[in-house]
Amino acid sequence: MDLIQLTEKEERPQAPKPGEVELRFSDRGVKELDYLLTHYPDRKSAMLPALWIAQREYGGNLPAEAVAEVAVRLGRSYAEVEGVATFYTMYHIRHAVGKHVIEVCTCIACALCGAYRIADYLKAKLGVDWGETTPDGTFTLEEVECLDACDRAPVLMVADEYIGPAAEKDVDTLIERLRNTEEPTTVRLADEVTQAQLHKTEQASAQD
Ligand code: FES
Repeated sequence: MDLIQLTEKEERPQAPKPGEVELRFSDRGVKELDYLLTHYPDRKSAMLPALWIAQREYGGNLPAEAVAEVAVRLGRSYAEVEGVATFYTMYHIRHAVGKHVIEVCTCIACALCGAYRIADYLKAKLGVDWGETTPDGTFTLEEVECLDACDRAPVLMVADEYIGPAAEKDVDTLIERLRNTEEPTTVRLADEVTQAQLHKTEQASAQD
């Protein structure tokens, strides 16, 4: 019997063998994770912040090596960490992304207010389709579910910044600004989430 493929088949990256995992976190990343781990009785519970640290340390992406490093550092299996990371779309594990990820909401409010017109404009301007990255590695275009900013539809999002209601001229301004932004916004976001997590943890300690 033939199996029906409901979604596009994705190649799963080969998991490195535990003994062959190269630990590449910077000293800063190691210290941050060590600090977070002092607040989690079970290391597994630190998996989400550990993945954010890894995403920053690996330049805004989570290749198989990054997933394997988190697995080793938390003493879990590769499959378990991969299972968590693939559940959340903000972890870039399914495909490598460029320096800046432009997310376009196409849910109902945005769709009714012209999200597909803006998406077509972006696709033509960047020369990419959903999930693709420009050849120079600068931009990745992603179609996303409701960004919880329906009052500003149609909405785009880059890192933690909302752009909306977005018109063609806003797209032009955004692309120009990002072209002149040296630091990848994917890395900046991963760092900001990590710092927020550390801050939250420090506050919890102060209250104990
Ligand atoms: S429908 Fe686009 S932000 Fe809610």
